[in-house]
Amino acid sequence: MSQYDVIVIGAGPGGYVAAIRCAQLGLKTACVEGRETLGGTCLNVGCIPSKALLHASHQLHEAEHNFAKMGLKGKAPSVDWKQMLSYKDDVIGQNTKGIEFLFKKNKVDWIKGWASIPEAGKVKVGDETYDAKNIIIASGSEPSPVPGADVTVDNDKGIVVDSTGALALPKVPKKMIVIGAGVIGLEMGSVYARLGAEVEVIEFLDHITPGMDSEVSRQFQKLLQKQGLKFTLNAAVQAVTVKGGKATVTYKSRKDDSENEAQADVVLCATGRRPFVDGLGLEALGVEMTKRGQIATDDHWRTSVKGIYAIGDAIEGPMLAHKAEDEGMAAAEVIAGKHGHVNYGVIPGVIYTAPEVASVGKTEEQLKEEGRAYKVGKFSFMGNGRAKAVFQGEGFVKLLADKETDRILGAHIIGPAAGDLIHEICVGMEFGASAEDIALTCHAHPTFSEAVREAALACGDGAIHA
Ligand code: NAI
Repeated sequence: MSQYDVIVIGAGPGGYVAAIRCAQLGLKTACVEGRETLGGTCLNVGCIPSKALLHASHQLHEAEHNFAKMGLKGKAPSVDWKQMLSYKDDVIGQNTKGIEFLFKKNKVDWIKGWASIPEAGKVKVGDETYDAKNIIIASGSEPSPVPGADVTVDNDKGIVVDSTGALALPKVPKKMIVIGAGVIGLEMGSVYARLGAEVEVIEFLDHITPGMDSEVSRQFQKLLQKQGLKFTLNAAVQAVTVKGGKATVTYKSRKDDSENEAQADVVLCATGRRPFVDGLGLEALGVEMTKRGQIATDDHWRTSVKGIYAIGDAIEGPMLAHKAEDEGMAAAEVIAGKHGHVNYGVIPGVIYTAPEVASVGKTEEQLKEEGRAYKVGKFSFMGNGRAKAVFQGEGFVKLLADKETDRILGAHIIGPAAGDLIHEICVGMEFGASAEDIALTCHAHPTFSEAVREAALACGDGAIHA
């Protein structure tokens, strides 16, 4: 029987990072993963492959809409879907093999198979049982089912699919319905819209991207509509049926209770994800769960059973790869007797559409609810020379700072490279920066980041280029 200081269950961004950090801290570590490749949902069927398709489809959009303006004449490229999928698979392969290399480099053993925990201190994989002084559960999440839509039956056929199926459709559909205007729905919806599909997004709420600063959300919807996405809001999907290779979505209007139908070649169900903890044996172990089916943990990622920790999508908090990574590192440090810490107030969220959308900290709505006195510094990318040069002047940076102290409370960006720009604010917030600190920092010209500085200036005596 093999003995480990730590066995991590799951090799997604939470689990593999936890395993590497444990090994770096001198702990004998193994990581159990049942997939053929490491990297979990993120690398295999999530963040990474979707970014490959977003990139490819964005290039096509540029060729179709902006090349001629720049004097690049000629026919826009046509889509070789098979090749696009194989490019995406190649990107996945490079990344998953990279984790395998990192495991070898850091002497993390990969135990292949699906794990269960027969008792605290033991992990069973196949017929083998391993001793582990500590166990970290990083088993991730799975798509939540849409009531009345049997995704599993059709995922391979590409008619009613979840995010995994949407990354490998047999062909680009003529018409696609996306159920849920959240991150997955809008990222994948914009991929297929750019590739030529007619895309309709059906959303329960009266706005897209729940939880996002509402000013950004409204502008985002406008820009997506300009790109051809159609939105049906206030619509509760009741069922999805398939007949003769076509899907019919039945939904009820929340305004007038009317029942409606919409048809498409492909329906993408993207109504959220739920923790995946099947087969671990948590119930028998007596591991406490939250009401929402997440593993309950304390602020050091300890579950109710001694020696068992949990991180990532399987516990509370936003289901984001980078949140899981941070928890993975912090849990490893706690196990090694150090002070692992995650600042949940500074976790950025990014949507990788074009333009990108990024946010960190509080939204204006949250500040209002808290009754906090705040000021807003806003700057449009129209005033940013670099953004205009690349046809991306339509977004803005919005900075929220405390009215009295000027301390940055949140930032919301819609525009070019928003997902990168947001990190200047994250670092600032970690240091307790004021808007003036950002405003006084020299920013290279011409960069998109000048828009962040201008928003900070707008919190004080005013932006220059507004
Ligand atoms: P989501 O929670 O972001 O959005 C789901 C949407 O579906 C909501 O707007 C909800 O109101 C709507 N909805 C629910 N039931 C419905 C019904 N019956 N009819 C119509 N609409 C309905 O979930 P999503 O997009 O599936 O993403 C899952 C998770 O994955 C999220 O936590 C997200 O943060 C994460 N993710 C993050 C990415 C990123 O950071 N770029 C990329 C992809 C996923």
